[in-house]
Amino acid sequence: MKKLTVFSLLFSLLVAWNSSAQTKIELTHQENAPIISKHIYGHFAEHLGKCIYEGFYVGENSTIPNSAGVRKDIIEALKELQIPNLRWPGGCFADTYHWMDGIGDLDKRPTIVNTWWGGTTEDNSFGTHNFLNLCKELGAEPYLSGNVGSGGVQELADWVQYTNFKGKSPMSDLRRENGKEKPWGVKYWGIGNEAWGCGGNMRAEYYVDIYRKYATFMSNADVDGGLYKIASGANDDDYNWTEVLMKNIPKSMLQGVALHHYTVIDWADKGPDIDFDEETYFKSMKQSWLMEELITKHTAIMDKYDAEKEVDLIVDEWGGWYDVDKEKSRGVLYQQNTMRDAMIAGMNLNIFNNHADRVKMANLAQTVNVLQAVILTDDEKMILTPTYHVMNMYKVHHDATLLPLTFNSPKYSYGEESLPALTVSASQNSENLTHISFTNIDAKSNHEITIDLNELDIKTISGSILTSTSLQEYNSFNNPSKITPKNFKDYTLKRGILTVSLPPFSVVVLKALQD
Ligand code: AHR
Repeated sequence: MKKLTVFSLLFSLLVAWNSSAQTKIELTHQENAPIISKHIYGHFAEHLGKCIYEGFYVGENSTIPNSAGVRKDIIEALKELQIPNLRWPGGCFADTYHWMDGIGDLDKRPTIVNTWWGGTTEDNSFGTHNFLNLCKELGAEPYLSGNVGSGGVQELADWVQYTNFKGKSPMSDLRRENGKEKPWGVKYWGIGNEAWGCGGNMRAEYYVDIYRKYATFMSNADVDGGLYKIASGANDDDYNWTEVLMKNIPKSMLQGVALHHYTVIDWADKGPDIDFDEETYFKSMKQSWLMEELITKHTAIMDKYDAEKEVDLIVDEWGGWYDVDKEKSRGVLYQQNTMRDAMIAGMNLNIFNNHADRVKMANLAQTVNVLQAVILTDDEKMILTPTYHVMNMYKVHHDATLLPLTFNSPKYSYGEESLPALTVSASQNSENLTHISFTNIDAKSNHEITIDLNELDIKTISGSILTSTSLQEYNSFNNPSKITPKNFKDYTLKRGILTVSLPPFSVVVLKALQD
């Protein structure tokens, strides 16, 4: 008994010493360091649950203030976030969607049954014009996901002509008849979605030929630099999928290869959105961390066929996915958003930033009321989630130059297992402002880091932090500002050495001004 007590004491001292030990982060030099594409901060809006209908789109006759039927509060919140792009209309829905059903007179539009998500009947009132005009209003690039699974080559070729062609043609004339003289000039096109699953259950070998055929008939006319075509990519660690795509699609036809990875602990039992324990939290963090390994390994395959890095890796679906609480559910795949989601966002965005040489776009699933949403609505009420705040804090990295870092992260341990507790990324923008973002996923321990910033000649530092008193906390319709960024002061800058103390489950972003 006595021995045990001494042992426990020693153990506690060791843990305390370990958690107070400083981690040294080195800024490394890299000639031609990559730009962190702002498109890494992209979003995804599918016809699913209450994302489009009763989320974005309430219709022009709604009492909720709207612009052409889209909620003004959502538009304002997304403008503040400076969302660079928006992917639509799916997801799985995309391979069932026939774009022509969503144009022209409202009362003549056929209905569509959302077979993948809840079997609801939609009236097609939110269509191509609504989406592309919304993107224009948001200042975001549209990313259209084409129907390959159940649509034809001509149908997709026509959609391209309808949205992009300036001259006279059957499709551009139809667009004009529907009230849009000038084309939108849509650059980003997905050729199918999850072709290995809901997009047609294809084998990679079959899909590459399908891809080549569809891509052939999509005209580059009237888009500067031509269309940016994205192949439906691998599910998680299906490295063979990436290999077959890279080997068999000519680079001239392929600008991006997608990858989907969700933070889900078990597809058969995803666990609750709010009432999770630390064991479940740790499992979520472990799944989320897989993103680092997945990007590294898919990149290595791409490097084999494309050393010049002409083809980009596009993580066009990512985020946390939990069980829908049937009692509370406000729609298919509706879930609350806690500090766990803030950790997922902070960690993944740091991972994407640090892989900015290959990852050029990512799309969080999904924008409103679905999965790891940045916005939740309840009739006229709207709240911004912790994930929204992380995206907003990190937007300083948009199109800034990556400052590569090296360090050995302290561990976050649970039971016998451990994970790196910290992810960090840094960038310098065109105004010579340096930003460093830190995410400490450790549920219990503070971690202290130091960085020698002497070379950057930093004069002043300021910062913000997102944290809370428990991992399970969230913003509710009754308490929408429970979790919001606060000023952060727990750092010192002495003789060019920055020391920062990062509390458990926190996201911190620092701004460093040069002399
Ligand atoms: O984002 C929800 C679904 O997840 C999408 O429809 C699909 O592409 C993926 O499986």
